[in-house]
Amino acid sequence: MEIKAEVREFYDIDVEALVVAIFEGEKTDQGFLKELDERSGQLLGQIVGTEEMRGRPSDIVYLHQPGNIRSKRLLLVGAGKAANLSVDSVSRYAGTAARFLRSKGVRSMALCRRSSLDLASGAQAAVEGVLMGLFEPDQYKTSEKEERQIDRLVLVTSESGSEDIINRAISHGRIIGEAVNFARGLSNEPSCVLTPTELANRAGQTAEQFGLTIDVLDEAKMKELGMGALLGVARGSDEPCKLIVLRYTGAPPGGTSENGNLVAIVGKGITFDSGGISIKPADGMERMKYDMSGAAATLAVMRAIAQLKPPVNVVGLMPTSENMPSGHAYKPGDVLRAMSGKTIEVINTDAEGRLILADAITYARKLGATRIIDLATLTGAVSIALGSVYAAILGNDQKLVDEVRKAADAAGERIWQLPMDEPYRDLIKSDIADIKNSGGRYAGTITAAYFLREFAETTPWAHLDIAGTAWESDKKPHSAKGPTGMAIRTLIKFVCEGSRT
Ligand code: BES
Ligand code: MN
Ligand code: ZN
Repeated sequence: MEIKAEVREFYDIDVEALVVAIFEGEKTDQGFLKELDERSGQLLGQIVGTEEMRGRPSDIVYLHQPGNIRSKRLLLVGAGKAANLSVDSVSRYAGTAARFLRSKGVRSMALCRRSSLDLASGAQAAVEGVLMGLFEPDQYKTSEKEERQIDRLVLVTSESGSEDIINRAISHGRIIGEAVNFARGLSNEPSCVLTPTELANRAGQTAEQFGLTIDVLDEAKMKELGMGALLGVARGSDEPCKLIVLRYTGAPPGGTSENGNLVAIVGKGITFDSGGISIKPADGMERMKYDMSGAAATLAVMRAIAQLKPPVNVVGLMPTSENMPSGHAYKPGDVLRAMSGKTIEVINTDAEGRLILADAITYARKLGATRIIDLATLTGAVSIALGSVYAAILGNDQKLVDEVRKAADAAGERIWQLPMDEPYRDLIKSDIADIKNSGGRYAGTITAAYFLREFAETTPWAHLDIAGTAWESDKKPHSAKGPTGMAIRTLIKFVCEGSRT
């Protein structure tokens, strides 16, 4: 898709459809809407404020031949209350407009700048919203595939001299939007295609394409390192597990930021979670191909920062395995010895994510990580606590947690902190080993995080549980149903702007 900024009057843009956001309670008697009302032969005034267009996020009005305006179509999209405007709402209305217009066969669209956000944030959010909005999980369809395409997007502004700022924002928005869609594509891949080996291949291609260093640890290497937790999970599967390690080196040697800082991002890469011997019910099990969404996000973040080139050093770790029942599988009651030396009693083989993350976190520390952020579709319990609206964040270092939360706010994603007070630690005490892998039904998201915390030890660490937010079960006006790419924008923001200390 061609995307560009144009400093020009809205009525003089050469595209098929012009998109204008309408805020709740807005009147057409002043400013931009007044001008649009006059040019449209008072069409706007007859619509805005009626039941058809109150400016609510679901409101949409499509007009043909809107008077004295160069584009032949005018699309009004509700944008909610102006006071609540955020990068999230901009990206949602941009995505809604793009999906709507594509469904009408429109090939070129222009978005008018209407937000009070700064120019760059608004433009970037709009581009991300359009790209994410147009994503379709129809790779395997041979009929009813979405063949229509929007191939030109114009961002319109009347502020002269702002093209450079907008073009830079467009380029960032494109990198980020494409990274998110790349991860969504991976989460959609069936587990018969995206095995741990195939995930390593895709990571290899990404590393090559964008200039990252990659190291893939195989089972022999992991045995040598004593990664008994990750290897234990993999035992039931015929597919060998891997630990994929990607590196980005952006801190200039000898420069001010060369103070030994290394951010590690660790993503859970279970390519299929059957539950293992503690097998899951059949209903909805097909969804468990997305249990590698944390790893996909890690790869997407690494891919984006390889292009954005922030002056920091980052390592991305993707422990990846299947979780399967078989005669070789690990069993409830087994004791595993993790790389850190800690012993783990397996209570439930379906609590496998924390096991593979444990060894990856230990390995990140061995690589010299000074801050660790892991992300995982870790617990069903997070959906009970926060639904599909917020992801949970927990950690051992409030400063790091706050920085990630701040990045989420700036990136337009919702994350909510859950407590990690000491008494929760009791729930994962084992009678026979150092720790057990399940604390039972109560506070499931917190006890899972507590388990990981045992392996982060003294390194500042934050954990994102994206089990409730990484998959959207309903189609939305701004987005197809399926994988969402949750937390990718947050982590890119964090690495690029919030990780200098
Ligand atoms: N991958 C699941 C978590 C999950 C559940 C993600 C539903 C998305 C939707 C994870 O491996 C798991 O099975 N967790 C168990 C832990 C329990 C056995 C302690 C869970 O949440 O039920
Ligand atoms: Mn599981
Ligand atoms: Zn899982």
